[in-house]
Amino acid sequence: MKVIAVVSAKGGVGKTTLAANLASVLASSGRRVIVLDLDPQNALRLHFGVPLDSIDGLSRATLSGDAWRTVMFDGVDGVTVLPYGAVIEDDRRRFEAHIDHDPLWLLHSLNALRLDASDIVIIDTPPGSSVYTRNALCAANFTLNVVLADAASYAAIPQMERMIETYAAPRPDFGGEGYVVNQVDQSRQLAKDVLKVLRSMLGEKLFPGVIHQDEGVSESLACDTTLIHYDPLSQAAADFRACGQWLLSRIDAIAVSPGSVA
Ligand SMILES: Nc1ncnc2c1ncn2[C@@H]1O[C@H](COP(=O)(O)OP(=O)(O)OP(=O)(O)O)[C@@H](O)[C@H]1O
Ligand SMILES: [Mg+2]
Repeated sequence: MKVIAVVSAKGGVGKTTLAANLASVLASSGRRVIVLDLDPQNALRLHFGVPLDSIDGLSRATLSGDAWRTVMFDGVDGVTVLPYGAVIEDDRRRFEAHIDHDPLWLLHSLNALRLDASDIVIIDTPPGSSVYTRNALCAANFTLNVVLADAASYAAIPQMERMIETYAAPRPDFGGEGYVVNQVDQSRQLAKDVLKVLRSMLGEKLFPGVIHQDEGVSESLACDTTLIHYDPLSQAAADFRACGQWLLSRIDAIAVSPGSVA
């Protein structure tokens, strides 16, 4: 099992979109992929056709002591989806207190699934610092940082770097971090300038391509599916496929020793 945490310091940059579409790409390449929503917005499932009125998910299952397998959905493109679930405010706070008390809750819950070594888990997280991101980083073999080509995203990078350095980097089974620039409009000079700065700052950590801004992304969500499924010939779908191949090469290079995360 390889665990990828999709993170960002800033909100609304495309974490959920990337988690969903990269899961779809990796599943299409023949790997078993589980996407796991660690964000109370409970939005990841919307990309995979999970019924809107479904309240099931890992928050409820954890509080009631049910096995995660009971809240796994077969999503589009062959992806297994583990939604956050819908909970009332009191239960959300109880759940957050539970995982705050046990930063290894996610790691242990994933290990209990006894996945194969080649299986991939992609975790969607809320923006910034939270108990969710801390738990995700404590389980991650790789972090995928999503940024926009703008000054605010650039300025926020050190905040997430500090979290990664604290919770992921010290572990021997942590294989490193990658960066993806999303929603790029190549016609904007500022985007090109920020990209140049990001390339020199991040070097090999940065996915060499970009994910272009593409209206098919929001259209696919409106149709309860991924862009890979909705419009495979679109620009952003091609970008997601290229990014997925890059991501695979990065995570397959990580050696995970028996008895650790795998
Ligand atoms: N490449 C893209 N082209 C066009 N629209 C995009 C692209 N990526 C994301 N979006 C849109 O940007 C918005 C935010 O995306 P998303 O919800 O994936 O961000 P997020 O980082 O998960 O947000 P949050 O921090 O709230 O969890 C959505 O409306 C999504 O459809
Ligand atoms: Mg999100």
